[in-house]
Amino acid sequence: MGESYTLITGASSGFGRSIALKLAPHRNLILVGRNGESLEAVRRAGANPERHLLWVRDSSRLDVIVDELTSLLAAKGIGIEHFIHSAGITGDQLVRAVETEFVTKVFNVNFFSALEIIRPLAQKRVNKGALRTITFVSSISSKLGGKGYSVYCASKGALDALARALAVELAPTVRVNSVLPGIVETGMTKQYFTNPDFLASVQATYPLGFGRPEDIADAVEFLSSERARWITGQELIVDGGKFSSY
Ligand SMILES: NC(=O)c1ccc[n+]([C@@H]2O[C@H](COP(=O)([O-])OP(=O)(O)OC[C@H]3O[C@@H](n4cnc5c(N)ncnc54)[C@H](OP(=O)(O)O)[C@@H]3O)[C@@H](O)[C@H]2O)c1
Repeated sequence: MGESYTLITGASSGFGRSIALKLAPHRNLILVGRNGESLEAVRRAGANPERHLLWVRDSSRLDVIVDELTSLLAAKGIGIEHFIHSAGITGDQLVRAVETEFVTKVFNVNFFSALEIIRPLAQKRVNKGALRTITFVSSISSKLGGKGYSVYCASKGALDALARALAVELAPTVRVNSVLPGIVETGMTKQYFTNPDFLASVQATYPLGFGRPEDIADAVEFLSSERARWITGQELIVDGGKFSSY
């Protein structure tokens, strides 16, 4: 096998971007997202841009993921050692009005695309046994309800269950964990952070106040590193104490 890479979905924005910038000095990266310009900007903003590759892909197109990834690894003669899944979308629909198209879209990006990426990565023929860690960016929404957010919450719960099950199935070679962030200002949430009522009411529910994307990137970096060599199947809540307070 040639060089080893870390594949990061959602690398064009928010947590994925922050994770990419943190890992860029010491890993070879494959940055994944739909927006090629934003991915290129992240590649250039980080260390060693010449070492990193882009895979411009709409993750909701599940039918092409396995073939594209398999071809990419073969063409470059590389393996994926670490997989970090940060791509995600949200949206609110009350369950009485929920549309199948919405459910499919949320689950395709948040859950099924990760599964489609893992399938070839777990195959010796394709990835040459390179895989060592899988880290999902889930959400505290997998543990907490939110009116109108049942589909998003369920998609994150599915991701956490997948992490636990794969931690058993892929041991002892591959460790699989989830990071569960509380709300942080990113592209996904910026509209809330311009709302003074939200800031006043929600910030008070975070004992440590609001965090930054780098706080999530630190947790992801740890779980995908050798320092976490005896941690698998776990959910690491990174939320400034929100989940512990009532
Ligand atoms: N921000 C929060 O408060 C918060 C809290 C808990 C959990 N999370 C989770 O954290 C993860 C990252 O979110 P974020 O806050 O960083 O949001 P963000 O800034 O909106 O980033 C979302 C990322 O997902 C990618 N993405 C979305 N749809 C895609 C698609 N169809 N195909 C490929 N890529 C797609 C986007 O890339 P392109 O636009 O280039 O496609 C972007 O890089 C998500 O899974 C989210 O559920 C966020």
